[in-house]
Amino acid sequence: MTAHIIDGKAFAASVREKVAGHVARLKDGHGITPGLAVVLVGEDPASEVYVRNKGKQTVEVGMASFEHKLPAETSEADLLALIEQLNADPAVHGILVQLPLPGHLDSDLVINSIDPAKDVDGFHISNVGLLGTGQKSMVPCTPLGCLMMLRDHLGSLSGLNAVVIGRSNIVGKPMAQLLLGDSCTVTIAHSRTKDIEEVCRRADILVAAVGRPEMVTGDWIKPGATVIDVGINRVPAPEKGEGKTRLVGDVEFASAVEVAGAITPVPGGVGPMTIACLLANTVTAACRANG
Ligand code: GUN
Repeated sequence: MTAHIIDGKAFAASVREKVAGHVARLKDGHGITPGLAVVLVGEDPASEVYVRNKGKQTVEVGMASFEHKLPAETSEADLLALIEQLNADPAVHGILVQLPLPGHLDSDLVINSIDPAKDVDGFHISNVGLLGTGQKSMVPCTPLGCLMMLRDHLGSLSGLNAVVIGRSNIVGKPMAQLLLGDSCTVTIAHSRTKDIEEVCRRADILVAAVGRPEMVTGDWIKPGATVIDVGINRVPAPEKGEGKTRLVGDVEFASAVEVAGAITPVPGGVGPMTIACLLANTVTAACRANG
């Protein structure tokens, strides 16, 4: 039996459609245009692609997009001054500082200078604490997108064994909190976990977020499990020609699809959901800002 393939692209399109409906109602009914400011420091090519996509989709759902591209050598004081200005700007409801930042900038200090109410990434220490204690918070976009796909496919997650591979602040830890919030029994596995294959084989829900191309193979997966692949890794693809590359996840799709009950593909799985959730968080921030 081969797994059901969860179509993140189609799901993200339906989320964006709902967001566009909310935006139209906020504009027509209340005269509010939700605005998202994205700050990019330096010229990392992958980050530039993300930021361009974010800006394009923000405008497509009818929101205002404010892009701030700063040179790699921007000082911390200048970046903090920009954030202070965005915090005070009533047209800006969401602020996202693209990570990673150049090494001379303190990411924690920068992220924690964002007004928590405008922190649409959910990375501010206040939002991290609120999520961890089950209170209303801004929820990080990638784990939120994963949770939405899991709920859509499985219905209730209550009582299921969930294993999250990876302990990053951006995905692994908030993903574990969200699954716990939905009453899963949660294990976080990582590079030091003993018998990681065995741990993964106990999972009804397996979320791979380690950034290691095709690390999880079919024999790590419990038959019928739901597999969410957060990895986006570019690897050489000599079969496509010299110097060519292809995108793969943290899961080896060909073997996993033969064992899992459902699986997200790469590309077209988690990736599109992340930006859709960012737009949804921005609308949420705009609603909360206006009572
Ligand atoms: N870099 C990679 N993913 C993300 C994300 O979700 N938010 C931000 N701000 N930077 C990122």
